[in-house]
Amino acid sequence: MLKDLVLHNRSYRRFDQSTRIAPETLRELCDLARLSSSGRNAQPLKYMIVSSQEECAKVYPTLGWAGYLKEWNGPEEGERPAAYIVILGDTAIASNYGIDAGLSIQSMTLGAVEKGLGGCIIQTVRREELAKILDISSQFEILYVVALGKPVEEVVVETLKPDGDIKYWRDEQHVHHVPKRELKDLIIAEK
Ligand SMILES: Cc1cc2nc3c(=O)[nH]c(=O)nc-3n(C[C@H](O)[C@H](O)[C@H](O)COP(=O)(O)O)c2cc1C
Repeated sequence: MLKDLVLHNRSYRRFDQSTRIAPETLRELCDLARLSSSGRNAQPLKYMIVSSQEECAKVYPTLGWAGYLKEWNGPEEGERPAAYIVILGDTAIASNYGIDAGLSIQSMTLGAVEKGLGGCIIQTVRREELAKILDISSQFEILYVVALGKPVEEVVVETLKPDGDIKYWRDEQHVHHVPKRELKDLIIAEK
Protein backbone atom coordinates (compact mmCIF):
# COMPACT_ATOMS: atom_id res chain seq x y z
CA MET A 1 0.00 0.00 0.00
CA LEU A 2 1.39 3.39 -0.97
CA LYS A 3 -0.10 5.04 2.12
CA ASP A 4 1.73 2.57 4.33
CA LEU A 5 5.02 3.33 2.57
CA VAL A 6 4.42 7.08 2.83
CA LEU A 7 3.53 6.71 6.51
CA HIS A 8 6.78 4.88 7.19
CA ASN A 9 8.78 7.26 5.03
CA ARG A 10 9.71 9.44 7.99
CA SER A 11 12.89 11.40 8.63
CA TYR A 12 15.08 8.91 10.49
CA ARG A 13 18.18 10.28 12.18
CA ARG A 14 19.47 7.31 14.22
CA PHE A 15 20.68 4.20 12.43
CA ASP A 16 22.44 0.91 13.01
CA GLN A 17 25.75 2.13 11.61
CA SER A 18 27.10 -1.43 11.38
CA THR A 19 24.45 -2.36 8.77
CA ARG A 20 26.19 -1.13 5.65
CA ILE A 21 24.36 -0.52 2.35
CA ALA A 22 25.66 -2.12 -0.84
CA PRO A 23 26.60 0.31 -3.62
CA GLU A 24 24.19 -1.60 -5.90
CA THR A 25 21.29 -0.77 -3.54
CA LEU A 26 22.26 2.90 -3.62
CA ARG A 27 22.43 2.79 -7.41
CA GLU A 28 18.89 1.35 -7.40
CA LEU A 29 17.72 4.34 -5.36
CA CYS A 30 19.37 6.70 -7.84
CA ASP A 31 17.59 4.83 -10.61
CA LEU A 32 14.24 5.56 -8.93
CA ALA A 33 15.27 9.23 -8.92
CA ARG A 34 16.25 8.98 -12.57
CA LEU A 35 12.74 7.74 -13.46
CA SER A 36 11.02 10.58 -11.60
CA SER A 37 9.43 13.56 -13.33
CA SER A 38 11.59 16.49 -14.35
CA GLY A 39 10.54 20.00 -15.38
CA ARG A 40 10.98 20.39 -19.19
CA ASN A 41 12.46 16.88 -18.89
CA ALA A 42 15.80 18.66 -18.52
CA GLN A 43 17.01 16.08 -15.96
CA PRO A 44 19.58 18.42 -14.42
CA LEU A 45 20.20 16.39 -11.26
CA LYS A 46 23.28 14.28 -10.69
CA TYR A 47 24.13 12.09 -7.72
CA MET A 48 27.18 11.25 -5.71
CA ILE A 49 27.03 8.02 -3.74
CA VAL A 50 29.04 7.79 -0.52
CA SER A 51 29.07 4.44 1.25
CA SER A 52 32.59 3.62 2.45
CA GLN A 53 33.04 4.02 6.20
CA GLU A 54 36.02 6.35 5.66
CA GLU A 55 34.12 8.74 3.36
CA CYS A 56 30.94 8.62 5.49
CA ALA A 57 33.00 9.69 8.51
CA LYS A 58 34.21 12.72 6.56
CA VAL A 59 30.73 13.70 5.34
CA TYR A 60 28.99 13.46 8.73
CA PRO A 61 30.47 16.62 10.38
CA THR A 62 29.36 18.82 7.46
CA LEU A 63 25.66 18.13 8.16
CA GLY A 64 23.19 19.82 10.51
CA TRP A 65 20.76 17.59 12.38
CA ALA A 66 17.28 18.21 13.84
CA GLY A 67 17.39 21.95 14.47
CA TYR A 68 14.43 21.81 16.88
CA LEU A 69 16.17 19.33 19.20
CA LYS A 70 18.46 21.85 20.87
CA GLU A 71 19.89 19.35 23.37
CA TRP A 72 20.86 16.86 20.67
CA ASN A 73 23.92 17.26 18.48
CA GLY A 74 23.06 14.56 15.96
CA PRO A 75 23.53 10.81 15.91
CA GLU A 76 26.37 9.40 17.99
CA GLU A 77 29.09 7.13 16.66
CA GLY A 78 27.39 3.74 16.11
CA GLU A 79 24.08 5.39 15.14
CA ARG A 80 25.31 7.44 12.20
CA PRO A 81 24.16 6.95 8.59
CA ALA A 82 25.65 4.05 6.66
CA ALA A 83 25.54 5.95 3.37
CA TYR A 84 24.77 9.28 1.79
CA ILE A 85 23.49 10.33 -1.59
CA VAL A 86 24.47 13.88 -2.43
CA ILE A 87 21.90 15.54 -4.70
CA LEU A 88 23.64 17.81 -7.17
CA GLY A 89 22.39 20.35 -9.68
CA ASP A 90 24.40 20.25 -12.90
CA THR A 91 24.94 23.90 -13.84
CA ALA A 92 25.91 22.83 -17.36
CA ILE A 93 22.29 21.72 -17.84
CA ALA A 94 20.23 24.23 -15.84
CA SER A 95 20.50 27.15 -13.45
CA ASN A 96 17.46 26.30 -11.39
CA TYR A 97 16.12 22.90 -10.59
CA GLY A 98 12.46 23.56 -9.83
CA ILE A 99 10.91 20.78 -7.81
CA ASP A 100 13.04 18.05 -9.41
CA ALA A 101 15.09 17.45 -6.26
CA GLY A 102 11.98 16.99 -4.13
CA LEU A 103 10.52 14.46 -6.55
CA SER A 104 13.78 12.56 -6.89
CA ILE A 105 14.38 12.46 -3.16
CA GLN A 106 10.85 11.27 -2.45
CA SER A 107 11.30 8.41 -4.93
CA MET A 108 14.63 7.52 -3.33
CA THR A 109 13.40 7.57 0.24
CA LEU A 110 10.25 5.60 -0.60
CA GLY A 111 12.51 3.04 -2.27
CA ALA A 112 14.71 2.99 0.82
CA VAL A 113 11.70 2.34 3.09
CA GLU A 114 10.54 -0.46 0.79
CA LYS A 115 13.98 -2.05 1.28
CA GLY A 116 13.74 -1.82 5.09
CA LEU A 117 15.99 1.23 5.20
CA GLY A 118 15.24 4.84 6.03
CA GLY A 119 16.65 8.26 5.43
CA CYS A 120 16.72 11.92 6.25
CA ILE A 121 16.87 14.83 3.83
CA ILE A 122 19.53 17.28 4.94
CA GLN A 123 19.47 20.85 3.69
CA THR A 124 21.70 22.22 6.44
CA VAL A 125 25.02 21.41 4.78
CA ARG A 126 28.38 23.15 4.95
CA ARG A 127 28.53 23.05 1.19
CA GLU A 128 31.99 24.44 0.48
CA GLU A 129 33.53 22.05 2.98
CA LEU A 130 31.61 19.08 1.59
CA ALA A 131 32.56 19.95 -2.00
CA LYS A 132 36.23 19.91 -0.97
CA ILE A 133 35.92 16.66 0.98
CA LEU A 134 34.21 14.85 -1.88
CA ASP A 135 36.13 16.64 -4.62
CA ILE A 136 32.92 17.88 -6.26
CA SER A 137 33.71 20.17 -9.18
CA SER A 138 32.25 23.69 -9.31
CA GLN A 139 30.09 22.52 -12.23
CA PHE A 140 27.82 20.96 -9.61
CA GLU A 141 25.73 22.75 -7.02
CA ILE A 142 25.18 20.78 -3.83
CA LEU A 143 21.42 20.89 -3.27
CA TYR A 144 20.74 18.33 -0.52
CA VAL A 145 22.29 15.33 1.15
CA VAL A 146 20.14 12.26 1.78
CA ALA A 147 21.42 10.31 4.78
CA LEU A 148 20.54 6.62 4.70
CA GLY A 149 20.74 3.60 6.95
CA LYS A 150 18.82 0.99 8.86
CA PRO A 151 16.76 3.01 11.34
CA VAL A 152 16.98 2.21 15.04
CA GLU A 153 14.57 4.89 16.13
CA GLU A 154 10.81 4.86 16.31
CA VAL A 155 9.18 7.84 14.61
CA VAL A 156 5.47 8.47 15.08
CA VAL A 157 3.20 10.88 13.28
CA GLU A 158 0.66 12.60 15.49
CA THR A 159 -1.98 15.27 15.10
CA LEU A 160 -0.95 18.84 15.82
CA LYS A 161 -1.87 19.86 19.38
CA PRO A 162 -4.37 22.76 19.84
CA ASP A 163 -1.47 25.16 20.50
CA GLY A 164 -0.46 24.60 16.86
CA ASP A 165 3.19 23.79 17.64
CA ILE A 166 4.78 22.15 14.59
CA LYS A 167 8.09 21.31 16.30
CA TYR A 168 8.99 17.63 16.36
CA TRP A 169 10.03 16.31 19.79
CA ARG A 170 11.44 13.26 21.54
CA ASP A 171 9.96 11.58 24.62
CA GLU A 172 11.81 9.83 27.49
CA GLN A 173 11.87 6.57 25.51
CA HIS A 174 13.59 8.45 22.66
CA VAL A 175 10.53 8.03 20.43
CA HIS A 176 10.54 10.85 17.88
CA HIS A 177 7.13 12.57 17.48
CA VAL A 178 6.19 14.47 14.33
CA PRO A 179 3.09 16.69 14.59
CA LYS A 180 1.16 16.93 11.33
CA ARG A 181 -1.70 19.27 10.54
CA GLU A 182 -5.07 17.57 10.03
CA LEU A 183 -6.41 17.04 6.53
CA LYS A 184 -9.45 19.21 7.29
CA ASP A 185 -7.07 22.11 7.99
CA LEU A 186 -5.23 21.67 4.69
CA ILE A 187 -8.07 21.43 2.18
CA ILE A 188 -9.35 24.98 2.13
CA ALA A 189 -12.38 24.24 -0.04
CA GLU A 190 -14.07 21.52 -2.04
CA LYS A 191 -16.12 23.02 -4.85
C1 LIG B 1 13.67 20.33 2.22
C2 LIG B 1 13.95 19.64 3.51
C3 LIG B 1 15.10 19.95 4.22
C4 LIG B 1 15.39 19.30 5.42
N1 LIG B 1 16.57 19.56 6.06
C5 LIG B 1 16.85 18.92 7.21
C6 LIG B 1 18.10 19.15 7.86
O1 LIG B 1 18.94 19.92 7.42
N2 LIG B 1 18.36 18.45 9.00
C7 LIG B 1 17.46 17.55 9.52
O2 LIG B 1 17.75 16.93 10.55
N3 LIG B 1 16.26 17.32 8.92
C8 LIG B 1 15.94 17.97 7.79
N4 LIG B 1 14.75 17.73 7.15
C9 LIG B 1 13.78 16.80 7.73
C10 LIG B 1 12.56 17.56 8.32
O3 LIG B 1 12.93 18.07 9.58
C11 LIG B 1 11.39 16.57 8.43
O4 LIG B 1 10.94 16.28 7.14
C12 LIG B 1 10.23 17.13 9.28
O5 LIG B 1 10.62 17.28 10.61
C13 LIG B 1 9.00 16.24 9.22
O6 LIG B 1 9.33 14.92 9.60
P1 LIG B 1 8.98 13.74 8.64
O7 LIG B 1 9.93 13.83 7.46
O8 LIG B 1 9.18 12.49 9.44
O9 LIG B 1 7.56 13.93 8.17
C14 LIG B 1 14.46 18.34 5.94
C15 LIG B 1 13.32 18.03 5.21
C16 LIG B 1 13.06 18.65 4.01
C17 LIG B 1 11.82 18.27 3.24
